Amino acid sequence: MRTVLIVNSGDGTGLNFTRCLKDAGGWRTIGVDPTLEDYHGSEADVRHLVPWTDSGDLIEAINRICAEQTVDLVYGADTSAELLVISEHRDQLEAVTLLPRLDDHLRMEDKWLTWRALSEAGRTVPDTVLVDGPADLARIFDRHPRIWLRRRHGSAGAGSIPTSSLAFAAAWLDEHHGWGDFTAAQCLSTRTATFSGLWFDGELLCSQLRERLGWRYGALSASGVTGITGGQRTISDVDLHAEAEACIRALSTTPHGIIGADFTFTEDGVPLPTEIQPARFYSSIYFIARAGLNLAEAYCALACDGRDALGPAQINPCAPDQYWVKGVDMLPRLLSRSDYNVS
Ligand SMILES: Nc1ncnc2c1ncn2[C@@H]1O[C@H](COP(=O)(O)OP(=O)(O)O)[C@@H](O)[C@H]1O
Ligand SMILES: [Mg+2]
Repeated sequence: MRTVLIVNSGDGTGLNFTRCLKDAGGWRTIGVDPTLEDYHGSEADVRHLVPWTDSGDLIEAINRICAEQTVDLVYGADTSAELLVISEHRDQLEAVTLLPRLDDHLRMEDKWLTWRALSEAGRTVPDTVLVDGPADLARIFDRHPRIWLRRRHGSAGAGSIPTSSLAFAAAWLDEHHGWGDFTAAQCLSTRTATFSGLWFDGELLCSQLRERLGWRYGALSASGVTGITGGQRTISDVDLHAEAEACIRALSTTPHGIIGADFTFTEDGVPLPTEIQPARFYSSIYFIARAGLNLAEAYCALACDGRDALGPAQINPCAPDQYWVKGVDMLPRLLSRSDYNVS
């Protein structure tokens, strides 16, 4: 039995990671959560409430739990201040981590630096500007009738809004104190796809592609993006897989740990990268496990035992057209194509 300490265990990404390890067997989980909500939401075998403000306090608390509970691996489950502290102070932790190199991680957390790296590497990217001032908005509106504003940092569509109005865009930036901290891109379609990858010293060991069929509760957010995937399905697409790999290699010479990629399609059906997702799995990790590839288990084995823990690479191994539907208060369902498409 190995022990994994999961920071941010009590919400979507952490819960689904925990469920993967429970299904796999052989892993004891310890949840560390900064809020009461997530502490109570956690399904870890042992739970700790750890509110913190100073990064040193968080590291000390994690190390204390590591010593008391003989922890083998520390995993930060969500894009959060906690994940950044873990990544920045990984050398001070008294248990193993498996993370992208710190400079790669920080570049991938910044959507503008990501866009620049993709662009410089010659990948096809959505036309995008960093919005330092109104002139930048005017520049992008000269080229596109409708734009997509969003924060450089964050997840789940942080700060995002589509608009065709320069005045509205400027007001949005004012309201969010966003000048210098937002990008503006050509507005793409609502069709998206996503790549999950597990890497070791530059080698891609496991991967899976999915198509999101929509954002759940989209009507509750200004942009329609909630970060909560509604229906989704496994897909097989050799070109998209190659593009995801190339995009990730454009951000890192030696991808290591978990690194995924999100694509949004143009109205003409061309998938363009909008995000390289570092260091943690998407909440749909449990869908992928149920569809045939337990990435969380592979990740933990890799972190604890190194490359030899895994056999040959498993590249997009899940049968395509397996569907997954989920939502708040419902248990997720795995469905075949015909079961999903009832008329
Ligand atoms: N330029 C764009 N045009 C239209 N929709 C976009 C654009 N960029 C992002 N989106 C939408 O926002 C979602 C989240 O974007 P993503 O790049 O994955 O960042 P994050 O997940 O960190 O918010 C995408 O899946 C897509 O639905
Ligand atoms: Mg994303």
